[in-house]
Amino acid sequence: MKGVILAGGLGSRLRPLTLVTNKHLLPVYDRPMIYYPIQCLLNAGINEILIVTGGEHAGDFLKLLKNGKQLGLKQLAYAYQEGEGGIADALKLAEDFADGDKISVILGDNIIEGNIRKAAGDFFTQSSGAKLLLKEVHDPERFGVVAFDDDGKVTRIIEKPENPPSNCAVTGIYFYDNDVFEICQTLRPSGRGELEITDVNQAYLERGDLSYEMLDGWWTDAGTFESLHRASNLVKEGGANNLELTAVQQA
Ligand code: G1P
Repeated sequence: MKGVILAGGLGSRLRPLTLVTNKHLLPVYDRPMIYYPIQCLLNAGINEILIVTGGEHAGDFLKLLKNGKQLGLKQLAYAYQEGEGGIADALKLAEDFADGDKISVILGDNIIEGNIRKAAGDFFTQSSGAKLLLKEVHDPERFGVVAFDDDGKVTRIIEKPENPPSNCAVTGIYFYDNDVFEICQTLRPSGRGELEITDVNQAYLERGDLSYEMLDGWWTDAGTFESLHRASNLVKEGGANNLELTAVQQA
């Protein structure tokens, strides 16, 4: 299975830092943010990765990551997203890279303590559809949130609900079969003018082809000053699954 890291967007909530580089290259404790999703995929045995980015600082990724060999990647590809069409719009650019296969997708500002290897393995044996990783949070209104029925079955996924139906957030780590590209083509922009990944997940739910697992260990995004700071603290104090890159970084 190949991996896709979505690392576009203007990072407007982190201005002025993002006036000089892409959000995903900002430091999280001792390394650039993008190292964490790369390591997350590597830890799951995924070493062919596409980074989708955009904006005027896209070239900075190449300066930092080059062809990815020094990070242990077999293949590192890049795609350039024009405009700010949202996460599901960025995902469309991965179709040729996926080449008919299943993919693991991770948002470039998502950092986890644990390892998604088991979830990736489980998805590999899932015949079709999608898999989400969920995490209980204290501020679900910031995320995509899942509603459950009494049997623990997902009934709906709502993006940034005012009145969250649960405290289970949809993390920015997703597994999709190749139908995801066809689904992306059917989406319409949301109220914030973007193609929403939540609408992709809802489409799989309506097909009856969506599974989920709870994510072990801590999880954070890093797209605001508060969450960026929290991410650095968690990495420093809580440890992360990313220590292997330290040797690379110092080489
Ligand atoms: C995005 C998704 C949201 C998900 C979150 C995870 O939110 O739209 O469903 O829960 O990532 O980080 P955004 O970062 O665009 O606010």
